Amino acid sequence: MGRFDLAIVNGIVATSGDVGAYSIGVKDGKIAALAPSFTEEDLDGAEIIDAEGAYVTPGGVDCHVHIAQDLTTGPRGSNGGQCADDFETGSRSAVAGGTTTMVSFALQTREDESLLQVVEDYDHLAKETGCWIDYSYHIIISRLDKAILDAELPTLVAKWGITSCKLFMTYASLRLSDHDLMHVMLVARKHGVTVMLHAESGDIIDFLTDQLEERGMVAPSFHGQARLPIAEGEATHRAIVLAEIVQTPVLFVHVSAAAAAEAIRAAQSRGLPIFGESCPQYFHLTWKDLSRFHSPFCFENSKMICSPPPPPNEDDQEKLWTALRNGTFQVYSSDHCPFRYDSPRGKLLGILDDEVSMAGEPCEHGHQHDLVDLASRKQGHFKYVPNGCPGIETRLPILFEYGLKTGRLSPEKFVEVTSSNAAKLYGMYPKKGALLPGLSDADITIWYPDGRLKPFKLENSMLHHNVDYTPYEGMEFSNWPRYTILRGKVMWANGELKGSAGDGQYLRRSESLFGKKVPGPKLDPARVPVWMH
Ligand SMILES: *[C@@H]1O[C@H](CO)[C@@H](O)[C@H](O)[C@H]1NC(C)=O
Repeated sequence: MGRFDLAIVNGIVATSGDVGAYSIGVKDGKIAALAPSFTEEDLDGAEIIDAEGAYVTPGGVDCHVHIAQDLTTGPRGSNGGQCADDFETGSRSAVAGGTTTMVSFALQTREDESLLQVVEDYDHLAKETGCWIDYSYHIIISRLDKAILDAELPTLVAKWGITSCKLFMTYASLRLSDHDLMHVMLVARKHGVTVMLHAESGDIIDFLTDQLEERGMVAPSFHGQARLPIAEGEATHRAIVLAEIVQTPVLFVHVSAAAAAEAIRAAQSRGLPIFGESCPQYFHLTWKDLSRFHSPFCFENSKMICSPPPPPNEDDQEKLWTALRNGTFQVYSSDHCPFRYDSPRGKLLGILDDEVSMAGEPCEHGHQHDLVDLASRKQGHFKYVPNGCPGIETRLPILFEYGLKTGRLSPEKFVEVTSSNAAKLYGMYPKKGALLPGLSDADITIWYPDGRLKPFKLENSMLHHNVDYTPYEGMEFSNWPRYTILRGKVMWANGELKGSAGDGQYLRRSESLFGKKVPGPKLDPARVPVWMH
């Protein structure tokens, strides 16, 4: 038996702490050694991958993905949006983009009482198809059954290793009142469960949506007008107050608004355990992209609808880059939320009611069938369009190209926000997100050496998801993950999938390493009900 099963030589290894010319030895699916070089004896019997001077990074950890999640509680009832990716296709797309771990959502609808049942149902779907990468779930809580929460949340932690929940401040079918948000925060705090928040003001958005509808401003391009950055800023600020009162750590997901980033920063500066996540769509798309196709009244712009929407302009994007660089955001996730355009359970849901819509301007020709034909002539209603864009595969390459290669981010920062911090935040470190000998799984992404890959423009056909478009069509790339390795097994190499959907394992997670209860500043009884804590 050789010392290693697999060795990666001649790489520039970048972790969240260091960058250096190291070779990596892998044994039994774990990182076994990092050394400037290995002897021939060391390498005896090992499969060898020559990184040829390219970056070698820990596999991507994407903790914000929607997989096999049907939106049956929206305005369309049981005919709501249907995620185009199941655990097989979503994770296949992930591994082809250098990601080796994902945490997907298990969603409690208002009809579901038991959280455990919800998780079991999602787990059944995952087991049915298998998964190309390691995976876990966050629980979305949409109703407050005190007895169920008290009884089931500890079981989710103990039995499933689910140590995070997500709560919504918008969407009629999911949002919780401030009262209920605080209640769940309190229970979550007791059990060491990290609270993730979708912070947009539901009332502001509903009001603006109604006003836009009254004026016939219903085309997908108006989506941004209904969800103003200030509505995100307001909700973020409000939730920080709630979290401070309850004294619980909170992570704001998919932050798109500079106003929200500023509120998060201010809370962090006061020493509060408040964390932020942002996503590629907020750095690379703006309101302009909501009228990218043909005309502002064209329904095809529904492809760009996600919530929160992309920011109004490039100034906002710059502020997000600053927030990513200066530590306001800890994580950069995809918010992969895959809906097909050409599907009555996808974006075309927004056109089904079109007889009541204003007549649109013709914007696309060469249609194939009735619904697409309708979509080419009508505006639809943005409020019925399922919210979300695909991006699990493009997340790492985009930040590598536009963050690391441009010099906006150091290699260490790139690894921190795409892998290490996600693992720390969600209780998977250092098994994931690191390359620590003896401790870390051998989840590794090897990039191309500089200049090796001919620069190319992205086309959706190059991707491995089950979605019929990408918001990044035409984006230029000069690098991409060349190898993706999961626990020592090569899953993706030189543009081809290896391995199978049977290779991913369920991950039980422990408590977050961030925001643990540490003695903080003395509590001010005028801000915090000290008698409660
Ligand atoms: C960090 O970035 C945020 C968001 O752009 C900004 O509000 C804040 O002033 C920055 N902080 C520092 C110390 O530069």
